[in-house]
Amino acid sequence: MCGIVGYIGKRNTQNVLIEGLKKLEYRGYDSAGIAVFTDKGLEIAKAKGRLANLETKLENTPLIGSVGIGHTRWATHGKPSDVNSHPHTDDSHKFSVVHNGIIENYLELKEELIAEGHTFVSETDTEVISHLIAREYEGDIVKAVQKAISHMRGAYALGVLTEYEPNKLVAVRQASPLIIGVGEDENFIGSDIPAILEYTRNVYILNDGEMAVLTQDAVELMTIEGNFISREMIRVDWDAATAEKGGFEHFMLKEIHEQPKAYRDTMRGRIDASGKHVVLPELKLNSEQIKNIRNVQIVACGTAYHAGLVGRSVIEQLVKIPVETDVASEYRYRSPIITPETLVIVVSQSGETTDTLAALREAQSHGAHVLAITNVVGSSIARDADDVITTLAGPEIAVASTKAYTSQLIAFYLLGLYLAEVRGTQTPEQIAHIIAAMQALPEQVEKMLSQADAIKDFAEQISKHEDLFFIGRGLDYAVAQEGSLKLKEISYIHSEAYPAGELKHGTLALIEDEIPVIALATQESVLEKTVSNIKEVKARGAEVMAITFEEHVAGLLKSVDQAFAIITHIVP
Ligand code: BG6
Repeated sequence: MCGIVGYIGKRNTQNVLIEGLKKLEYRGYDSAGIAVFTDKGLEIAKAKGRLANLETKLENTPLIGSVGIGHTRWATHGKPSDVNSHPHTDDSHKFSVVHNGIIENYLELKEELIAEGHTFVSETDTEVISHLIAREYEGDIVKAVQKAISHMRGAYALGVLTEYEPNKLVAVRQASPLIIGVGEDENFIGSDIPAILEYTRNVYILNDGEMAVLTQDAVELMTIEGNFISREMIRVDWDAATAEKGGFEHFMLKEIHEQPKAYRDTMRGRIDASGKHVVLPELKLNSEQIKNIRNVQIVACGTAYHAGLVGRSVIEQLVKIPVETDVASEYRYRSPIITPETLVIVVSQSGETTDTLAALREAQSHGAHVLAITNVVGSSIARDADDVITTLAGPEIAVASTKAYTSQLIAFYLLGLYLAEVRGTQTPEQIAHIIAAMQALPEQVEKMLSQADAIKDFAEQISKHEDLFFIGRGLDYAVAQEGSLKLKEISYIHSEAYPAGELKHGTLALIEDEIPVIALATQESVLEKTVSNIKEVKARGAEVMAITFEEHVAGLLKSVDQAFAIITHIVP
């Protein structure tokens, strides 16, 4: 996730871009840059780190002009650095591009362009776009952009400028958000409404496959094939703070709702066109090394540890290798048996957690290959690991992890399927079946999220309690542990997650009248056993809420007080 802005009008363009980027820093903040058409031509300023670094740079050498584009980055391809920051340009420096999204086929396009004589300076996928536009330019920037994007696969919101047509700003949207702000004798583009709200409340929302051509006094909307579109302008009446949270009450809620997009982005380019194979071109681990893996150790803290508990099941079931999951702060003190045939997977949203980093070093000191699953390209863990799978969830502003956790689960499935194919532990049909289930997931989660009001009612009931239990078996127990952590962290309600079959060995004594129990019952193989554990707590007076499949809701309602349906399940 990155943020883009663009401006054409009579104001101080640099200020409009910087102020807009400040409102988009929640979308990414590892580097930033702007391009402004000045009296010297297209001039670009970029700086690694927070936006303040760019502002400091611009204090000495401001870019004065009336059209410009800007970008705040959350790295996906190439570490955060000045050179990888946007805007990107071509060999002639006559074209400039800001991009939010992922170009899936950038490597093949890059090879093609290099063979044609183009020179690349960055590690990004975006630089391919500026070279493509330059190659296709024959005197009309709109046509050049249309031709360029016809070669691209993936997600992109773009802002494009060329020195040849300095009175135009071209914007494109395909699977990444983009809005157009309409002012008087000035127009804007932005990844999100807050970027432009200070200047105008009149907005067009672009849909996928649409583009806009902005001049100072006009906005033309068209499809990427060039057919003009007429669209009603929206009048935004949110205040700036609400707009920044996309209309949600707080960032955590916004990020919960961003999960479908986080899944799509994490899977993008990692499942081949046939839908039958996982491809992880970023992995250095070769087939030989994969076949030699004797055991896997997953090490992480907090929520990432809970993702690792699911990862253990996924890898054991798909790859048939023994897996242990460790809390990172314990790992190095238990003298784990690590050999060069051990694959150690460290999981960390931030990529900076000290205990996880220490575990990584411990594992490397014993010769293990360390693979990191992290959400932050260029983080300490990403830099030090031997291999990295990046979750493309975008920055998580809320302290409590939501979209990053579930994206870590997607990463484990991708990895598990990839290892299974190399080691031949699953049939092609089984692999294709799971891939299809994963691809259906974003839409199913969207449906799940539409039940938010019913879940809110339930949350209000349990908010009056001091203690709560989560129970489940297998993967349900792993998820229960994360549910319990969230409840403690966010609601300050004491809760415990228990393997459903273990309660009877003592803890059942704490189940009293009306104590809430959330029972996860999504594992077909242990459903009956879970139901009998539910009966045990019901017999002691608990109020039970079950989470299960649609088809089991009616049956479970005979034993529980309430039941929520999840739409489907991913089955190894
Ligand atoms: C803790 C946070 O400090 O770190 C948890 O409170 C988080 O929410 C844990 O899961 C691990 O963080 P990371 O960035 O390594 O995934």
